[in-house]
Formats: sequence, C-alpha cells, structure tokens
Amino acid sequence: MVLAACSGTKKNSPVIGAGKTVDPYHYSSTKAVTYSKAAVASAHPLASQVGVAIMQKGGNAFDAMIATQLALAVVYPGAGNIGGGGFLMARQTNGHLIALDYREMAPGKASRDMYLDKNGNPVSGLSESGHLSAGVPGTVAGLFATLSYAKLSFKELIQPAINLAEFGFVITAHEASGLNNARAAFIQYSANPGAFVKNAPWKAGDTLIQPDLAATLKRIRDNGAKGFYEGQTATMIVQEMQYGKGMISYDDLRNYKAIERPPVEFSYRGYNVISFPPPSSGGLLLAQMLKIIEKFPVTNYGFQTPRSVQLMVEAERRAYADRAQHMGDPDFWKVPQQTLLSEAYLAERMKDYDSAKASSSSNIQAGQIHESPQTTHISIVDEAGNMVAVTTTLNDSYGSKTVVGGAGFILNDEMDDFSIKPGVPNMYGAVGGEANAIAAGKRMLSSMTPTLVIKDNKPFMVVGTPGGTTIPTSVFQSIVNVIDFNMNAADAVNKPKFHHQWLPDNVMVENNFAAATKTALEKMGYTIVPIGGIGRTELIKILPDGSRETAADSRGDDSVAGY
Ligand code: DON
Repeated sequence: MVLAACSGTKKNSPVIGAGKTVDPYHYSSTKAVTYSKAAVASAHPLASQVGVAIMQKGGNAFDAMIATQLALAVVYPGAGNIGGGGFLMARQTNGHLIALDYREMAPGKASRDMYLDKNGNPVSGLSESGHLSAGVPGTVAGLFATLSYAKLSFKELIQPAINLAEFGFVITAHEASGLNNARAAFIQYSANPGAFVKNAPWKAGDTLIQPDLAATLKRIRDNGAKGFYEGQTATMIVQEMQYGKGMISYDDLRNYKAIERPPVEFSYRGYNVISFPPPSSGGLLLAQMLKIIEKFPVTNYGFQTPRSVQLMVEAERRAYADRAQHMGDPDFWKVPQQTLLSEAYLAERMKDYDSAKASSSSNIQAGQIHESPQTTHISIVDEAGNMVAVTTTLNDSYGSKTVVGGAGFILNDEMDDFSIKPGVPNMYGAVGGEANAIAAGKRMLSSMTPTLVIKDNKPFMVVGTPGGTTIPTSVFQSIVNVIDFNMNAADAVNKPKFHHQWLPDNVMVENNFAAATKTALEKMGYTIVPIGGIGRTELIKILPDGSRETAADSRGDDSVAGY
C-alpha cells in the first residue's frame, strides 16, 4: 500500500534527519525480508523504518527499541503509547539478559472492590473505559531505564517521534476505521480528545497531526522522565483525573519505577527459551506449555493434525488453569514459580491426559474472548547480535479512550487486567482470584510474552505479539512452528492459530484453520469457536549464516525494515 499525501500538509518533514529518509506521507508495509545485518518488525512501517534509521546512525537494538516505541506512540495511537506500559526482554551480545517491567500500577487510592457496586456486583464497563480504568503509566520510565543500554542520546531517539507528531503522517485504512470506531468513546471519556476527533470521518490517506502530543514529547526530551511524571504533563494528567473522577495522583506519578526482574529461562528440544516473568503470566505459561509437549513427538504428529492440536490444546488448558489461581504481581503474591515449572508437577498435570478425547474445564461461568489486537510487539536484532523483544499496551484499542487534555496522549485501561472479583471474567474472558486482586501499588497480571530463543549460545529467534490472553498461545505456536515444524519466519507467523484458555472451555480457531482438523476435534468432544484473527506476531529468526529472516504479521499494517 502506498499512501498519498493529503493536500495542505507539510511534505518531507525531517523525520530522521539529513540523509535518512522516512517519508511519513508515502509508505507501505513490507511483510517478510531476510536482512544481512539488522532488522526491526513492528506494527507500523514508519516505526520500523525509524528503528532501522537509528541503527544506521550508529545506534544499537536498544536505541532502535526506544525510537521505535516512541514512533509507535505517534503513528499507532491505538496501542503504541506513552500512557500505557510494557515489558522489555533483551539479551546483550555478551549473553547478559534484561527483563524490564514497566507495567502499569494500581494508583495509591485503588482498592480491591473499587469496581463493585454496594451489592458486590461489578459495575459494567467501569474497569474498561474512562478515567477510573487507568493504571499509572510505566512506558516513559521503561524507556529511560532502557537508555542505560543504548548508545545515542535520548534527544536523538525521540526526535523522529516529535517530528511525526508535529508535522503529521498519513494514516492507513486500519487506523482510519479504528479512530472512527472510537470517536464517540473519545468524546464521552475525555475532557478534550484533541487531534483524534474531527468532524468528518477519518479515511485512509488523511494526515494526522498531533501538536499536543508533540509538545508532551518535547517536555520529555527536555526534562527526561520528569517531563512526564512531574511538571506540566503530570498536572495535565491529574487535572484530567479530576475531570473524570479518576485516581492517579501526583504521588503515584512521581513514585512510579520500572523494575528489572529475573527472566524465565528454560530449555526446549535443545534450544534455550527466555521469556517474561510475573507480573506477566506469559513466560510461565509458555514454559509450562512447551515443557508439557516436549515429552511428545510433535514433529511426527504433523502440523495442525488433530493429534498435535489436541495435545497443544490440553497443554494450554492446564497452563491457563494455573494462571487463574497462582499468578499475580510477585511483589504482592508468592507465585509458586519453581513448582509450576517442575518436571514432576507438569507430569502430574498431564496424568489424566487422553489423546482421544477432550478433557473438561470445570463449568464455572466465563465470558467470551474479546478480540482486539491492540497491544503491540516490537522485535529487533542489531548488527552486533543484541536481541530486543518489547510488548507494550494500552490494553483495549485506544485504552481507556481518555485522552489527557492538552497532552495529546491516551491513557490505558489496564486496571481491567486485575481480577475485579474472584471468578468474574475480564474483557479477555480471563478469571482470577486473590493472586490478582486489586491493591494499591500492585501491577496487574499480564499475558504479554516478549520472548527470545538461543541456540548453542547464539541468537536464534525474537518473537512476541499482542492479543490479550491469546498472546502466550500464539508465541507457543510460533515457536513450535519453527522448532518442530521447521517453518520460516513468515509461515510461523501467518499460519492459522488456535487458542484454549481453560475457561471458557472451548477452542478458538482462526477462520482459515484446517476444516478436517476442526471436525476431528469436534468428534473428540471439543467445542470449536471461530475467531477473526489471533495476534499480530513479529518474528525474527537468525539463520545459520547470520542473516535475519524477518516477518511481520500479515493480519495488520505490520511491517519489517532492515539492512
Ligand atoms: O497485558 C495484557 O495481557 C493485556 N493488557 C494485553 C492486551 C492486548 O494484547 C490487547 N490485544 N488484544
């Protein structure tokens, strides 16, 4: 897709500076390329191009991650963000691992039953939209924590995003329809929705100019993290909270910290897999699912045959049952990580496994999965071999739909990832209990699974995706596609995916999932539910000659770039 510039826009703004062209008025998605040295895969062509241009200027994968994430905050407002949070999983060339948690946090005034009415029933939508659904944003703290691994100055890394916000960029058809769909909610939940709302409907090729966001980014450029967590931006956030009876305070903002955590590390068929620990459930679920199926000859079963899918579904079911009970913010809840990952425990979990029929999840009521791919993942490998996987989110599309008045960015609705009441499903149908109950200063349980795979001590794969609770199963299947079914990056990403999460007790399958396998599963007792699309996976596979086979998901505007 090549997008035409709209009339009346400034052309050829210096997105990346002299000599490097990232043209925000004409661009297209590139889905799969093998690059010889360095690669970025992200949700938007302009963001991937910015990341690559930064590496060509001398930056490493960490520089590229910072610049790409900031660019996404401008060009992909539904999920790219400064008002949300995320996780960075990285490996430096010397083998040093970094798992950086910049997940949002419940405000100091938050409490366990804050979304329940006086009869103890959830108030519909309260944790999903508007001011009260927002956790304290972590992204800006995460970017500055990442800066210590980068080479260039923050000023250089943020400038492309400032230019994209100030001079504008043309939007895709996906973005136009996203903004149109969210229009009424922006107006309902914001004092001043700014650039996102205009009178006529958005259409592909329109230019989105975000002067308020540009000014906020300049305050961050000039004052560092304080440009967001203190001063004028903090005042704007707190004023927005007052307007909509939200809870985020000056203290919440000033005290927010990104935290380094010990990553989840395990072996799978001779590869080392490294993924994100609690407060994400992603790394533990991935480890449980892969370790369970490692005992079976999955390659012989064949790709998406009834046998292999049934085994993987049963691994998924058992892992997600553990998620609901045992996983939460480790600073508030003792997650029994060692047990959950032990061989003996996993063997015990599969004792009642029957390869001919469906197991049964208990029949507690649970909601349907809500599919909005509006979290976003970035995979990067640089020339030296640094590997960076970042998944970042506002939670729902355009988060809480609350735009911070005058500051031009959207706040997350991450509070819905808590268990607002035991057994009550969140927007992804996930249930939970005490482990993930709301408490002041606690981080809500996530499914984000930024993951690295190492082979013989060398980089092998960087992978991750959005998709709410479907994230760990998508990453699981992408890894199995590569390791067990020997797929290239593009096939691993684009082949149909399926998903089981214990409750609701059904198998969701993408529309193009093999009909014969579907029928065979139904015969074994599975309920199959079709779903439009699962995830937006970005995957880089490092080939034996060192080249970077890079794939961006064909389900969206996602795009690769590299050299
Ligand atoms: O952290 C989580 O698990 C969710 N907030 C992610 C949301 C997401 O992936 C949105 N896309 N479906």
